[in-house]
This record gives sequence, C-alpha cells and structure tokens, in this order.
Amino acid sequence: MASRRSERRAAVASPEWAETGVLRQALSQRSGDVLREGDATASAVLEGALRNRERVERATHGFHAYPAGLHPDAAAELLSLGQGPVLDPFCGGGTILVEALLAGRDSLGCDINPVATLVARARTTLTTESERTALRSLARKAADAARVAGQACFLAGGRDTSMLRAPVPELAWDWFDPWAVVELDAIRAVIGNDPMARAVLSSILVKVSKRESETANRCGTEVRPPTTTATLFHKRAREFARQLEDLEKLVGTGATVRARVHREDARELRERNAFGMVVTSPPYPGVYDYVPLQQLRHAWLGIDPGNSVRDEVGSRRAFRADRATALAAWRADTQRWVRIASKALLPGGHLAVVIGDGIVGGRPVDSLGPVGESAHAEGLVRVARATVERWDDGADRMRPEHAVLYQKG
Ligand SMILES: C[S@@+](CC[C@H](N)C(=O)[O-])C[C@H]1O[C@@H](n2cnc3c(N)ncnc32)[C@H](O)[C@@H]1O
Repeated sequence: MASRRSERRAAVASPEWAETGVLRQALSQRSGDVLREGDATASAVLEGALRNRERVERATHGFHAYPAGLHPDAAAELLSLGQGPVLDPFCGGGTILVEALLAGRDSLGCDINPVATLVARARTTLTTESERTALRSLARKAADAARVAGQACFLAGGRDTSMLRAPVPELAWDWFDPWAVVELDAIRAVIGNDPMARAVLSSILVKVSKRESETANRCGTEVRPPTTTATLFHKRAREFARQLEDLEKLVGTGATVRARVHREDARELRERNAFGMVVTSPPYPGVYDYVPLQQLRHAWLGIDPGNSVRDEVGSRRAFRADRATALAAWRADTQRWVRIASKALLPGGHLAVVIGDGIVGGRPVDSLGPVGESAHAEGLVRVARATVERWDDGADRMRPEHAVLYQKG
C-alpha cells in the first residue's frame, strides 16, 4: 500500500496537473510537499499564505463561522502583493475585506450568498462607542426576555406554542430544543431589524441547534439546558462589541477607508478599471453547498436565498449529480469570473487567487488549470504560484491548495 508521503508525491506530479498550460513550466523549487514557481519573493509570500497558522483574534476575525474562510494572515499576506483598492468577488464572511480595512485600503466584497453578505457587512462596519453601547444594551434586553421565556417553556414541559411572539420556522422544532425555539423567538422579537444584532443571532444559530457542525447539515441528538441560547447570545454580542472596538482602533478613529459589501453574482459584476487588486478565494469545485448549508439561518432570519441556490458556482451537489456536466459548468463559470476580475483591474493591477482542488467520488478535480487558462485568455501574466498539500480528513487523502498571483499588463 502506498504511504501517505508517496501519495503526496503522486498527487503533486499527477498528469491532470501536467496537462494544464499553467503547470507546464519547470518548477523552480520543491521543498517537501510544497511547490513554488515564478518570482521568488512573491512565491514565498504565496507559500506563507497557504500555511496553517494559529487562531487569530484581531479585529472581527473569529466572530462568525463561515465555511472555507480564508486565514486572516493569508489575506494580509496576499494583500501585501499589490496596491490600491481591493475587490473580492467571492467574499464569504469578509476576511479579505477586514484585512483590507486594517491595511487602510478601500474594498468591495461580493457574494451571492445572503448569509455571507450579512456577516461580511457586520464584520466590516466601523462603529462608534455609542453604537457599540446600543448593541450591548439591545442584546441584554433580548437575552433577558429570552431567559424568562426559556425557563417558562422548560417548566411547562417543553413545546408550547402559546409562548411564541411570532410564527417560528417549521423546521425549528426538529433542529432545536423547544426552550431554544422559544428563546430564539424572543431574541428575534426584541432585536427586530438591527443588522448587527441579527449578525450576532446568526453567529450562534448552529451552536444552539442540534446540527452536527457548520459544514455538516445533519441533525444530532444533543440537548442543552434552558437559557443556554439567551446566555450565549448575550455573551457573543458583548464579544462582538469588543471586536468592533478593536477594529475601530486598528483602523484608526475617523479613518475614511471603507469596505462595501454587495450581494451579487461574481460572474456578472460591472466594475471596470477600478481596483488595484482582486484578491479572492472562489469555491473549490465540488466541495461545499454554500447556500443550502445556511438553511437554519435563512429560516430564523427570514432570509430569502432567491436564485443563489441555482447560481452558486462549483456546488458539491452538482458534482455529485453529474461530474462531467458540473466540471464543464465550473470551467465556464471560472472563465466568466476571471474575465470580470480582469476587467475590474486597473492596468498593472494584480489578481491573487487561493483555490484548492476538489475531490469528488474519491477522484481529484483540478482547479488551478482552468483558472490559469482563463487568466491567460484575458492576457493576465502569471507572476508566481505556490502549492501546498494538506491532508483532508473528510476525503481521506491529500488535497492540493494553490495560491497564484497574476498581473494585468
Ligand atoms: C471559499 S468561499 C469564500 C470564503 C471567504 N474568502 C472567507 O474568508 O470567508 C467561496 C464563496 O463563494 C460564494 N459564491 C459561490 N458562487 C458564487 C457566485 N456565483 N457569485 C458570488 N459568490 C459566489 C459562496 O457563497 C462562498 O461564500
């Protein structure tokens, strides 16, 4: 049986990679399971960006879980490879936008997923002390109301719809303890449409549910005591207020830099010659169903996912249903977003992409080749690239992750 080490080597040298125009060049450096090529300084930065690091506490990082979120240090390092305003067309939870703010650079983040834009917007909002005090105070009122409701529900023996202030999603009774349903209902009623408090509620929803994890949409059996939801909501709101304060301090009080967040399809953005950099991590082919993964949040926050289920790129379900069709669609989508990204760049601007290969039905799906071919077709010149392989527990094999830097002529 092949050792993990030899599997790694085999994956690095796989013909699927060698076929791609991007990878035809001789590799300039090989150190263990890392490959680098192109400009030595840039490729070292790209390699650094792919390396795992410690948990980061600065600013609003860590406030809200998001699948496949980029490491904050990786975002900072990628940003250091270029200048000027930043576009992230697949912004997810907004890691790159937060780091752009910290670097004093204006940014625009887009995502088709309404939960992503809710989170990214909240994480990049520059607040005043009085706004943070208002958030703490609203959260305290909501938690107090939820505590009373949760206790009463528990003492009444569980499910009791007479305690509810508004109709709750039907799925709530399967995915949450009855007192958690009542507590969430009370929190929702008190916070209304406040965007920051809604982001806090979103941040605890999976944690207080029976769902196995953020990325596994399976219902478990765990039971939590009454008032857990109220307490966690209040705690998370106070933490978020502290993180927002940190963000404000790091950016500088009164700074004019800003991050905009739009709910938009990355394949259809209309920005032209506006950005010094596009820095992004698009969906890896066949790895996640980003929109369906958020079903509890859609239900509790009254979010209509609209066409986002149809329009999300590279979904796992599409690759599982029909690999060949999904691969063709993913390649076409890659061409479209790379073209848009290229048009959005100012002359001399940089495109930095972090992307991992997919693994579907135990077989790898090359992600770097289509990105490279699309970039080449747009006249972007590749400056450097790094590839690092990581063990993927879910797939039980190595998964290559790539960071590539291109420049517009
Ligand atoms: C790898 S994640 C990005 C994670 C992000 N860098 C972060 O740190 O949180 C890829 C994102 O692409 C989004 N996405 C998928 N299809 C899209 C499309 N057609 N247009 C815009 N965003 C899309 C997904 O919703 C997901 O948030």
